[in-house]
Amino acid sequence: MEQEPSRRTEAIVAPSLLSADFSHLAAAAARINASGAEWVHLDVMDGNFVPPLTFGAKAVADLRPHAPGIFDVHLMTREPQNFFADFAAAGADYLTFHLEAAVHSHRFIEAIHKLGKKAGLSIVPSTPAAALEPLLPWLDLVLVMTVNPGYGGQTLIPECLGKVGILAALRRERNHRYLISVDGGVNEDTAPRARAAGADVLVTGAAFFSAPDPADFVRRLKGLPSGARASRSE
Ligand code: DX5
Ligand code: ZN
Repeated sequence: MEQEPSRRTEAIVAPSLLSADFSHLAAAAARINASGAEWVHLDVMDGNFVPPLTFGAKAVADLRPHAPGIFDVHLMTREPQNFFADFAAAGADYLTFHLEAAVHSHRFIEAIHKLGKKAGLSIVPSTPAAALEPLLPWLDLVLVMTVNPGYGGQTLIPECLGKVGILAALRRERNHRYLISVDGGVNEDTAPRARAAGADVLVTGAAFFSAPDPADFVRRLKGLPSGARASRSE
């Protein structure tokens, strides 16, 4: 069962399929499931908002029967609203789009909710946390990019973790419900800092797929202490 962010003790680990062998995506999904990770992070790139292309809704629909976890779809696309219905039908649980790619973000959050899905909003390293502030009451997830989006295997930009702390403090002060996710360069060295800053969800691509023992890797990430304190109403 999903828990309120303020009651959560374990980190959520969300391995990213971006670092998998795309000719064996079902095997990669099985590896994620066997590791004990409860989420699967799916990076959708359009060759426009970010340079590479990855996969579309059909690949996600085809994967759905092979992976029981929460499907955390990260849309790195322009015109994200054009993709919501297809990815919702494909089995996405969370649909996260980029603030930088959307003018009418509030309307788009409502559109995702009308499809019966959880809505997430992401910011790239050059966007301040304050840009998310007007939208926080409606969000189920905020995704703080800790690298410039487009590629796996990059190095986490530590300055981005300051935004995690700001978003954790705002959640506490205002009793918001969103989860805070960090994406990019998360590994066993950097995950403790992301957790200490207040992250609930740890997206991890290269580090997960190169881990010799994925279950041990996931167990250790899940056990990292959170720096996010309980909300005032707790
Ligand atoms: C990057 C993607 C990430 C990526 C993370 O644009 O959004 O989800 O897969 O990969 P690592 O953990 O290798 O930085
Ligand atoms: Zn991602």
